[in-house]
Amino acid sequence: MKFPTLMINFKTYDQASGKDAVALVKLCKKISKNISCVVSAPDLNSCSKITIPILAQHLDIEEAGGHTGKITIKSIKENGAIGVLINHSEDRIPFLKIKKSIELCKKNKLFSIVCSKTVPESKAIAQLNPDCIAIEPPELIGGDISVTTADPEIISNTVNVVKKVSSKIKVLCGAGVKTSKDVKIALKLGADGVLVASGVTKAKNKEKAIKDLVKFL
Ligand code: G3P
Repeated sequence: MKFPTLMINFKTYDQASGKDAVALVKLCKKISKNISCVVSAPDLNSCSKITIPILAQHLDIEEAGGHTGKITIKSIKENGAIGVLINHSEDRIPFLKIKKSIELCKKNKLFSIVCSKTVPESKAIAQLNPDCIAIEPPELIGGDISVTTADPEIISNTVNVVKKVSSKIKVLCGAGVKTSKDVKIALKLGADGVLVASGVTKAKNKEKAIKDLVKFL
């Protein structure tokens, strides 16, 4: 994965699922090498055939066997993902499961990105040594006010606490990020990139929105 990154979380938006997920990944590939896409489990295989970094939105930690509906690390890896998004605000898991998920990623050489909603939580997660932490205040997710405007300190403070634990851990920020101006501020505050969803998935002109978001990467 190339940093600074524009990481696009496709969530379960219609505009970014099934055939539309593949079309969006193709568009991202055309625009920049600094884009990575987080797609839903059923779309991992088709999206990872397009050679840009693809990540899973969730991992279950159950052992292989009788666990209907769970998403295993083997299935994520063998369907071409290079990493996993863990503990997103819309899919929170207990701390011990975060720990186990990071361990599973390390064992399987997959990139781990753990979402956090506060600075103390980011600090605690950093002790688990994931590859990346994404700070996202939940109340700003999906809205029109960017975290970079509403709460720039949460970004700089997260960068400070995380990099103190390890300078190798990358930090992303997200929630309401929609423009190159937001990205510029995020980078200035020390982030290694941004995590974006609706700014791309709900954009009338996706190509224009993505081109703007990668302008300063
Ligand atoms: O994972 C990214 C996400 O939660 C941010 O969503 O729609 O505010 O860009 P959005």
